[in-house]
Amino acid sequence: MARKVVLSGMQPTGRLHLGNYEGALKNWVKLQDQYEAYYMIVDWHALTSDYRETAELPERIRQMAIDFLAAGVDPEKAAVFVQSQVKEHAELFLLFAMIIPTPWLERVPSYKEKSEEMKLDSYGFLGYPLLQAADILIYRADLVPVGKDQLPHIELTREVCRRFNSLYGEVFPEPQELLTKFPVIPGTDGRKMSKSYGNDITLAETAEETAKKVSRMFTDPKKIRKGDPGRPEICPVYHLHQIYTPRAEETVAPPCRTGELGCVDCKANLAKNLNAALAPLREKRRELEKNPAPVEKMLSSGALRARARAAETMKLVRKGMHLG
Ligand code: TRP
Ligand code: SF4
Repeated sequence: MARKVVLSGMQPTGRLHLGNYEGALKNWVKLQDQYEAYYMIVDWHALTSDYRETAELPERIRQMAIDFLAAGVDPEKAAVFVQSQVKEHAELFLLFAMIIPTPWLERVPSYKEKSEEMKLDSYGFLGYPLLQAADILIYRADLVPVGKDQLPHIELTREVCRRFNSLYGEVFPEPQELLTKFPVIPGTDGRKMSKSYGNDITLAETAEETAKKVSRMFTDPKKIRKGDPGRPEICPVYHLHQIYTPRAEETVAPPCRTGELGCVDCKANLAKNLNAALAPLREKRRELEKNPAPVEKMLSSGALRARARAAETMKLVRKGMHLG
């Protein structure tokens, strides 16, 4: 039996941070061994909000591709590519646009929230989830690893799938989300780690930069100096210790509570462990910066494989719709 197809995408935000790595990329690396995997950098999606500033897109894509490779995405196993290199996505998006009622898109929660919050009102922004549906269905994907925030988009994708299949015949399998349990990674200020909050620790930065950021992290505000009792459960430094320090609940939490451990030492320990965990990835990253050939090769061979599969699907789609 053919292996199941897994597909996911990330917007080209540039350098990935720990949240992207722990929450998505590590999982992609695992999934490439079990499934036929397609991983894409969705540059067209980036235009739904940032259509004015496009000059930096190529560099952001490049940096992201370097992070993928350095983190262990294997181009022999997974097809890694840039969305705009597979023009078939645009054709399928156009055909879906013909058959999907506008209210289906207007009621997607991200549309309502973001269009008000960020004053986004383009036609493409409304179509964001429809383009995502095309991204997924064009590979006839079975599984889509995503975070919880993406569930409405996957639900819409299934609705698009059912509508197409009932009108024109069974072309697409219904995709399922693959929700993985992973820790929510706090940023340096205790909020969710996010590039837009400026509280992120990136894979690309140096160990020194990381140590500096960690030394400035928010902690329990009631613990002002060593000797004061602390509350690890509300401290973002401790949350990161739980991921990067073995047995943190024995080695960090108790001495924090008693006051024996001060925040300065506690942060220095975290920086050490965090940097040790990232060292091999960062080393690989430096090599790829010096010699980018493997990155270019990954994206070009990935696009070839993606195009082949997308072209097959489009044949079925055009046949079903009686189009040339
Ligand atoms: N909307 C997704 C996000 O913001 C990115 C994305 C685009 C995607 N197309 C996709 C994710 C297809 C999974 C599958 O994270
Ligand atoms: Fe946080 Fe560590 Fe300070 Fe405790 S000692 S409050 S865990 S930084």
